[in-house]
Order: sequence, then structure tokens, then C-alpha cells
Amino acid sequence: MKYQFPENFWWGSAASGPQAEGIYEGDKKGESIWDHWYEEEPEKFFNQVGPEKTSRFYKKYQEDIQLMKQTGHNSFRTSIQWSRLFPDNTGKVNQVGVDFYNAVIDELIEKDIEPFINLYHFDMPMWLQEKGGWLNRNTVEAYTLFAKTCFELFGDRVKKWFTHNEPIVPVEGGYLYQFHYPNEVNMKHAVQVAYHEVLASAKAIKIYHEMKLDGEIGIILNLTPSYPRDEANPEDVKAATIADAFFNRSFLDSAVKGEFPKDLVDLLRAISHLPETEIGDLAIIKENTVDLLGVNYYQPRRIKAEESDEKLAQGPMPDDYFDNYVMPGRKMNPYRGWEIYEKGIYDILTNLRENYGNIRCFISENGMGVENEERYINKEGVVEDDYRIEFVKDHLAYVHQALQEGSNVQGYHMWTCMDNWSWMNAYKNRYGFISVDLNQEGKRTIKKSGHWFKEMTSQNGF
Ligand code: BG6
Repeated sequence: MKYQFPENFWWGSAASGPQAEGIYEGDKKGESIWDHWYEEEPEKFFNQVGPEKTSRFYKKYQEDIQLMKQTGHNSFRTSIQWSRLFPDNTGKVNQVGVDFYNAVIDELIEKDIEPFINLYHFDMPMWLQEKGGWLNRNTVEAYTLFAKTCFELFGDRVKKWFTHNEPIVPVEGGYLYQFHYPNEVNMKHAVQVAYHEVLASAKAIKIYHEMKLDGEIGIILNLTPSYPRDEANPEDVKAATIADAFFNRSFLDSAVKGEFPKDLVDLLRAISHLPETEIGDLAIIKENTVDLLGVNYYQPRRIKAEESDEKLAQGPMPDDYFDNYVMPGRKMNPYRGWEIYEKGIYDILTNLRENYGNIRCFISENGMGVENEERYINKEGVVEDDYRIEFVKDHLAYVHQALQEGSNVQGYHMWTCMDNWSWMNAYKNRYGFISVDLNQEGKRTIKKSGHWFKEMTSQNGF
């Protein structure tokens, strides 16, 4: 076999509560920002499909976990919806929600699929958002209570915890580029929100370690390697370094090293955009770093030097300091509009090995969103997604190379198992190993890639 992976490599996929579960009569779930935003502006969502219409994991989790088994999973990540556990501001836990997550966790363990549980996947409860969400420091305290409650309720069986999924995304979407509620454009708020997320993560890690449970805790970051247009042009290199500080090192350094990148701090100080902090915060961040790191990788960032400072005059935004560069001949996923650059995954793992103490890590998301996949359904009703198989193989080849060179990468999770609801894009791009027919009560059919994944994982390679 050309690409043989170590024994006990984590194979599986990731999903999230808000994208998979759905909302049902009697579930006593509170409103999250997504439920609220959809209610307010349904036309913003692709085909006006909202978060109540996800892949119905709430009802179908048993069938889905069985399908995970059939597609070769030994591990699976999902998230606990904060608004399901704490539907309102009374501090009372929703027992119906607890029962649901207990059932999911038990079912996974029973099927020998290790549950990886994430605490925050873009889904602020509305009762907290009304008071400012991540902008309000009190949310950090509310989050630590939520985290502690989850550890107490499920920590006897869940051994892998994550504080956030892609914490940069609520910053970008909610406070810079308007694709998450509350859709502001406000760099000062963006910085404060990011800071509170970092602090919340460190506080949750502190609590988890103090509880001395048998398990580990990390964070999941979407890392986008920043490549300058021209390595020999110092202006391009500088621009790429700034993009890297904003979008990668902001959360990576704080999570793994317990400190913020100096160049980013200097830049924010120069424009009077440092966040408000309290004495003792930085020590908490320094002392409570992650045990392991999840890496979501979809695409790189190609950067060139900013060509005019006209944009700066309109008020600071990260991309005042660089321009995105469209590299001629780059390979694209035409549906999602993202570049496919397989070697990026190797570059990330190498960077972690060389500059982040070879932190234990795994690929926590990688995947290919494709529109109108029904085009590829064969006579047996199976989506023949050879493009997805190629995509996974090409990325795994680079993960394998990184492993050979000493990377501490321990697994590979695809985004995602069942096609699921993707925020504003709803069901536009399908990512799953398993198709979901929205016209037939969410009927599931394993795609060709799901069958391939089963075969590949049973041999631990290809
Ligand atoms: C990741 C997220 O950013 O990418 C998922 O963790 C998301 O929640 C996935 O669904 C795919 O991105 P998109 O925007 O195409 O759905």
C-alpha cells in the first residue's frame, strides 16, 4: 500500500449541532442567532431554507450513527448547542436536551465510535446576543458555566473536548464581512469579540483541567496558509505575514503558546484598536493552553501587497493591509469558489511541527462542497462523487508525507457525514459522504465516497 497510516488513526467526520439537529416540537430548545436571523430575513438564506430544516439528526441519530459505522468511522465530532442546554437566562438546564446528548454519546460509544464534542459552533443563544453576545464580557462567564455544565454532564464518557470551532469565523462573519448575525462592520468590535473568545477558551480549559477528568481539551481552528504572490518581493511577503497574523496566528498562538502575536498587537496598538482587558486575563491565557489542536483546512490565502491606501481612509479593516491575489492557473472548486491546494495541508502540519512544539493535532475538517450533486446519481440511486474521492486522496497523500517527516497528526475527519445545512448557503453545497434527500424526509443514501472511505479506513490507507 502506498499510503499506510498508523494504527489507531482517527478516521471520521465532523458536523455541528445547529447544522444537523433541527428543531422539534417539545424539544425545549431556545433560540440561537441563526433561528432568529432566519425568522427576520429568510430571503438571505439559499432557497429560503432555514435552520429548523437540517438533516434531522435529532430524530435520526440512531440511523446516522449506524451509517457512520458503515462508512468506516472510528470517531465523530459534533457540537452541543448552547441554546439547547440553556434555552433562556434562568440558568436552568433543559433536561430534554441533556437526554438527547446523553443518548447520542451513548449510541456512539456503543457503536465504537469515539465522540469528539465541541462547545461552540457559531451558535450564540439569542438571550445572550441580546446583551451583546461575544462583545459583552459577561458572555465569557456564561460560557464557562455552559462549559463546566457540559463537562459535569458528559465528561465521564467524552474524552475529547473542544472549546470552539473556527473562532475567527464569528469575528469575520458577525463584525467585518456580514455573513453572520449581527452583521456589523466594526473592527473595534471584531477585536473585542476575538479577545473574549480567546479568554473564554482559556477559562474553559482551566476548569476542565481542574476537574481532573480523564480526557483532553483543545480548540478547532481553520488555518489558511498565507502565500505571498512573490516570495522575492518584500512588500508581498509583509502583506502575507499580516494576513497570517490576523487570520491564523491570532487564535493559533493564543491557543498553543498562550500569547498573542507581537506584530498583531503592535499593529492594533498603532491604530488604537487593542481590546479592553482586565488584570489577570493574560496570565489565564498564558497558563491554559490546549492539549491538542483540530485543524480545519479548505483553502489557502494568496496575498499581494496592498496597492492603494484608499481603503484605509474608510476606517480600518484587516484587508486594508493586503490584497487578495488571484494566482493564474490555480485549481478551483468552482461551486464554492475556493482554491484547491492540497499541499497547504502539509505546510500547516509542517509549521505546527517546526514552530508550535509539534503539538498533537488532527485534521478536524477537510472537504469539498458541490452544487447539484443529483446530476451524479447513478441507476442505483448512488451519487458517484469521484471528485470527492480524488480530493480526499490528494489531501491524505500530503498528510501522509507530513507524518513521515515527524508530524504529530493523529487523524483525519471529513466535513461532513450527512449532507447538512450550511448557514446562509443552506443546502447549496453538499459536502457529505451520505446524501440527504430533502424531498423524502431526509432519506439517506451512502455516496460512492462513503463506500470508498469504509474500504480505505478498514485498511488504514490506500
Ligand atoms: C467550516 C465550518 O467553515 O466549513 C462548517 O466549520 C461549514 O460549519 C463548512 O459548514 C463548510 O463551509 P460552507 O460555508 O461551504 O458551508
